[in-house]
Amino acid sequence: MRRIRLVSGSKLVVAVAIIGFGCGESQAPSNAPSDTSAGSGHGGANGLGGNQASAGRSSTAGTAPSAGGAGSSGVPNTSGGTMSSSDGGTTANGGSVFGGAMNGGTGGSGGMHTAGAAGAGGSSGGAGPKLLGATPPMGWNSWNAYNCNGLHETVVKSMADAFITTGMKDAGYEYVNLDDCWMDGRDANGKLKWNASKFPSGIPALAEYIHGKGLKIGIYETPNTKTCAGLYGGYTAGVGSVGHETTDAQTFASWGIDYLKYDKCQGQLSAFAVMRDALKATGRPIFYSINPGDQGPFCTPTNCSLNLPMTANMWRIGFDISAKWSEVIRLIDANKEQYVGAGPGHWNDPDMLEVGNGLNDVEGRAHFSMWAIMAAPLITGNDLTKMNATTKATLTNAEVIAVDQDPLGKQGRVVATPGTDLEVWSKEMSGTNARAVALFNRSSASASITVQWSQLGLPAGAASVRDLWAAKELGPATGSYTASNVASHSVVLLKIVSTP
Ligand code: GAL
Repeated sequence: MRRIRLVSGSKLVVAVAIIGFGCGESQAPSNAPSDTSAGSGHGGANGLGGNQASAGRSSTAGTAPSAGGAGSSGVPNTSGGTMSSSDGGTTANGGSVFGGAMNGGTGGSGGMHTAGAAGAGGSSGGAGPKLLGATPPMGWNSWNAYNCNGLHETVVKSMADAFITTGMKDAGYEYVNLDDCWMDGRDANGKLKWNASKFPSGIPALAEYIHGKGLKIGIYETPNTKTCAGLYGGYTAGVGSVGHETTDAQTFASWGIDYLKYDKCQGQLSAFAVMRDALKATGRPIFYSINPGDQGPFCTPTNCSLNLPMTANMWRIGFDISAKWSEVIRLIDANKEQYVGAGPGHWNDPDMLEVGNGLNDVEGRAHFSMWAIMAAPLITGNDLTKMNATTKATLTNAEVIAVDQDPLGKQGRVVATPGTDLEVWSKEMSGTNARAVALFNRSSASASITVQWSQLGLPAGAASVRDLWAAKELGPATGSYTASNVASHSVVLLKIVSTP
């Protein structure tokens, strides 16, 4: 498929035509309707959007009717049709590809975004299955802190315990995820085996332990013959799932797995849809997180032959993060223009969090603020049993997490660059005329940063301004707000709501 940009007035939308392929590999999702993108939009990958309505397909550049896609299962269509004029940006999010029903449709075959077994959708008026990944996932993953050799069931159990004792679970964190290096090849029947010295009690028992705490468990695989640690790190027991998708998906379901990270590792892009379908066929809701890139160019919503929202619940948009400020900046910049692809059930993934892994406290807070305003998955990567008070306060800040988890599901974007390395980001929030705003100082000196209501698409006049990190109302302001002395490498995160 090739994406075609249609420009209408000041609005730009992305449509998909079946006339070629975008980035390298030429494979459409195997069970996705060939023209789904034009109508099913944000709801595409939820397994319900396959039979999209013509109302969605007839959308024209940015002017689609608000019911831009198929279905009537009662999930509000927040992303269809024209971009809200108050969206504070310059490009449209609606119209064709990404406009459309979230969760409607009539038993389509594409995707796997519902929490139930292969979704039937239909017009049940609100009684449809819960949308899987309706807000960005929150959890913990073993890789950043434990890498290959440190993974062990005692570590994973201690993280699950820490979810409870640190307040992480109460803050919304849910998934406890094993990354690479959990496995030990396959048995004589071709079934994946776990590494018995790392997981002496077995993964089903670990899943039970995690479920017993009201949490969920994730696991890692690849669409190749080896995992990435197998390919690059000499972990020969790390075997991939290619050619074994049905068996492996069933194995994961039988173990009680709730989340799969499927990491390209030089596999074929076309294999992502194969695993999507295999997971869906298990009937177990398994959140599907993919990494459709390797060392080279990544597949992103603005440049990929895969229809990412039709394929997975989230996808990496860049190479691995590490705990350095320059890396945080690299991934923010890589994610900046990708907002067109994000919405309930399908998210851009600028990679896991490095808060608590070596960034200083100010940078850690800025990192977390930016992931929140980008509606990024909040998958922590630090040792939760050894967090200092600041790291814990950062990761569990309810008002900041609420920005990330806002049900409207918009990814924030840059709306102004008032100086070198100074950025104003805006994220439309649910409610009337509500925005989360990040005043982001990327420079090496403190600076004063002003946001104007016109940049946010808010009406002129008074608006309430709340500082989310300070948990403090700053009082009503008219037309603009200035934060003076925004520290280097920091973010002032605000919620601005027009006063009726
Ligand atoms: C990389 C991936 C990392 C981690 C690692 C495991 O490809 O980006 O997040 O999963 O593989 O080998």
